[in-house]
Amino acid sequence: MNPYELSTGQIEDLVRTHGTPLYLVSRRQIRENFARLDAGLPAAKIYYAMKANPHAGILAALKAAGAGFDVASKGEIQAAISAGADPQADLIFADTVKDPKHIAYAHGVGLDDFTFDNLSEITQIARHAPGTKAHLRLAVDNHGSVAHLSDKFGAPPSAAVDLLCAARDHGLVPRGISFHVGSQCLDDQRWTEALTATRQVFDAATKAGLNLATVDIGGGFPVRYDNEAVDLERTCGVITANFHRLFGQDIELVAEPGRAIVGDAMILVTKVISESRRRGPDGQEHDWLYFDDGTYGSFLEVLLYQAHYPLRTNTDGPMNDYVLAGPTCDSIDVFSRDPQGRVTTRPLPEMHLDDLLIAGSMGAYTYAEATNFNGFEPPKFFYLD
Ligand SMILES: Cc1ncc(COP(=O)(O)O)c(C=O)c1O
Repeated sequence: MNPYELSTGQIEDLVRTHGTPLYLVSRRQIRENFARLDAGLPAAKIYYAMKANPHAGILAALKAAGAGFDVASKGEIQAAISAGADPQADLIFADTVKDPKHIAYAHGVGLDDFTFDNLSEITQIARHAPGTKAHLRLAVDNHGSVAHLSDKFGAPPSAAVDLLCAARDHGLVPRGISFHVGSQCLDDQRWTEALTATRQVFDAATKAGLNLATVDIGGGFPVRYDNEAVDLERTCGVITANFHRLFGQDIELVAEPGRAIVGDAMILVTKVISESRRRGPDGQEHDWLYFDDGTYGSFLEVLLYQAHYPLRTNTDGPMNDYVLAGPTCDSIDVFSRDPQGRVTTRPLPEMHLDDLLIAGSMGAYTYAEATNFNGFEPPKFFYLD
C-alpha cells in the first residue's frame, strides 16, 4: 500500500492506536522504487545509501529485494549487518571523510571497498585497511540539484591520476571512479557530463598504467515533492545510454541511490499541540500552529534546503494561512519557509488543537536527521505492509 492511498479515517485510526508523531511506511513502495531503478539501470549493482533512512525495517526490505548498502560509519555498517548484509559482498564505504576507527572496524568485518578524494584519506585507508579496493571520487557540476555535494567532496579531474597512482603506491587497488551529481538532481545532463569527465579520467589512468574497472554514479535520483518534472525511467535511460556509449560492456556500473528509494514511501502524521496568534519575523500577525514534530525532528531539510513537503490535514474547514512550528524552545524551529528560507505561512484547511497534519514524501533525510533536542523523541514507525 502506498501511504498516499490511506484515507483520513484510516490515518485517524492508526493515530488512535499508535499516537503521534507517527511515520507510516510502505515497504511495497520501497520495493517498487528499488525495482524501478534496478530495471532502469540494468548494468548497475545498486547500493542503497542508507544515510537517507536507516530504519531497520527499511534495510531488511531492501536486503530481501537484493540491494547492497552504501555506508558512512561503523554504526551504519553494524545496522546493515543486522539486516543481513555480507560486508564483503554487499557494502561499500562510499563516504570520503571516514573516521579511522571506522575504517579499521570495516576492514575487520571484511568490507573491502573504500572511496577517497585526497591523499590523507588514502593514508588512512592504507593504514587501517591495507590492500583494499579504492575508488576516487571526482568533483562534478552539481547545478540543477538541491544539495550541492561537490562543494565539500570530490577531487578535481586534474588531480585524479596522481591520486589514483598515490593509492596504488600506498598498496591499495585503484578500482574506479565515483561521483555524485548532488541530491535531488533534476537535470539529466549532469550525469552525462559526469560520465564524460569520468571517461577522460579512465583514459588518462590507462596511459599511466592503471587498469580501472568500475564507474560509481552515486545517488541524486529525484523524488516528486511538489510539481517537479521527475521521470526516473527517462533519467535512467539517459545514464544507461551514455554509460554504454562511453564505457562499452566490460566496465562495472555501481549506483548509490538514497532519496529515490525511500522518499515517497513514508508519510508523517503530527498533531497540533498548541496554537496562538502572534507577530512573526516579518512583523505581521499570523495564526501559528505548534506540532509535536518540527525542525529538530523530521523537518530539518526545510531549514537546510527549503524542502517543500506536500501537506494535508484531517480537517475540512475554510482555508487559512498558518505559520507551522515545532515543539522545541528554539525560535528557528519553524517549518513553513519560503524558497529563500524565510518564515512564511502555508495555506491549510482550518486547524485547531489535536488536529492532524499529514506530510507526504517524508521518507528521506527526515528520521535520519532527527535529533532529540529538548528530549523530544523521533516519531515512531508503523509499517503498513
Ligand atoms: C556518497 C553518497 N552516496 C549516495 C548518496 C545518496 O544520495 P541521494 O539520496 O541523493 O540519492 C549520498 C548523499 O549524501 C552520498 O553522500
